[in-house]
Amino acid sequence: MANTWLDYAQQKEHVELVGLVDLNRQAAQQKAEERNLDIAVFTDLEEAIQETKADLLFDVTVPTAHLQVVSTGLHAGCHVFGEKPMSDNLKHAQEMADLAKQTGKTYAVMQNRRYWKEIRTLRDKVEQGHLGKLHTINSDFFLAPHFGGFREEMDHPLLIDMAIHTFDQARFISGCNAKSVYCHEFNPSGSWYDGNASVICIFEMENDVVYTYRGSWAAEGLRTSWNADWRVIGTQGTATWDGFDKLESETMKEPVSDSFLREMERQSLNNTWQGEETHFGCLDAMFEAITEGRLPETNCFDNIESMKMVFAAIESAEKGQKVYL
Ligand SMILES: NC(=O)c1ccc[n+]([C@@H]2O[C@H](COP(=O)([O-])OP(=O)(O)OC[C@H]3O[C@@H](n4cnc5c(N)ncnc54)[C@H](O)[C@@H]3O)[C@@H](O)[C@H]2O)c1
Repeated sequence: MANTWLDYAQQKEHVELVGLVDLNRQAAQQKAEERNLDIAVFTDLEEAIQETKADLLFDVTVPTAHLQVVSTGLHAGCHVFGEKPMSDNLKHAQEMADLAKQTGKTYAVMQNRRYWKEIRTLRDKVEQGHLGKLHTINSDFFLAPHFGGFREEMDHPLLIDMAIHTFDQARFISGCNAKSVYCHEFNPSGSWYDGNASVICIFEMENDVVYTYRGSWAAEGLRTSWNADWRVIGTQGTATWDGFDKLESETMKEPVSDSFLREMERQSLNNTWQGEETHFGCLDAMFEAITEGRLPETNCFDNIESMKMVFAAIESAEKGQKVYL
């Protein structure tokens, strides 16, 4: 993933790379050579920040290292932009948010799946009341990646490593946080994962929207998008997004008919997002915010609300009962 972040840094004038850090010096050295970067390479982050006088840290390490890496950056006076998930547990994520508050530095988290033009258009339409008062959101996520490696050995692989994206997208679309969840997690027949690769969740959001998530990483055939497949329903109509480029709505025709099934009007929703998409879009938003002295949209205090959805879902699955966040 560091490649994507380096692509951004090397293409954008507002970023000057001053050093690369990896526990494995050879990995950092190789990256510098591949990319013709004439910059210092370190294995110790604190030393790297001191020597280079960096004012911003990109954290693209593994989730278990994020607490240590982000804390070192914030303590050393850097803003930090880091990869999801904030951590592999909620306690560490909270510690990082507390430290960001204490140091007054920004810690923002990559949520690239909010930066697709379709989801931003959908969110704008919902906010403008195009569907009336929102009451239901469904998302389906069915893929069958054969990753090999840590994901096939970890507990709760789908919830921790992937659903953080989809839950964050649901918060983005609904414009609010979750207040409860009931989650059933299971490992389907034939799964090649040690942990549960399939999940069904029912969330109640704070604005009384009910959000359902059905997902699997062991579902062969008829794949959905990695962005999930969405249905968003309000009092005036419904919008669907297939997670690719098909975004449409059907809303009640005015004046509203009194027919058994109301007359509806179908439309493709015109794009309202002019910015870049995915990682580049999210990074642009982070840079814009710190330049303007405000918090980025995906700042750690916001992102911890998506983390809470993941860990409440795990608690619910383990207890076999509804959990309040
Ligand atoms: N947003 C997305 O779409 C997306 C996609 C894939 C991965 N990710 C995230 O990106 C992060 C990195 O994933 P990856 O697949 O690139 O991992 P990776 O294992 O390929 O690379 C991680 C690198 O970090 C180094 N490292 C580990 N601990 C370190 C530490 N304490 N200090 C310095 N270097 C350290 C490792 O040596 C390795 O070179 C993860 O948080 C992952 O969840 C995000």
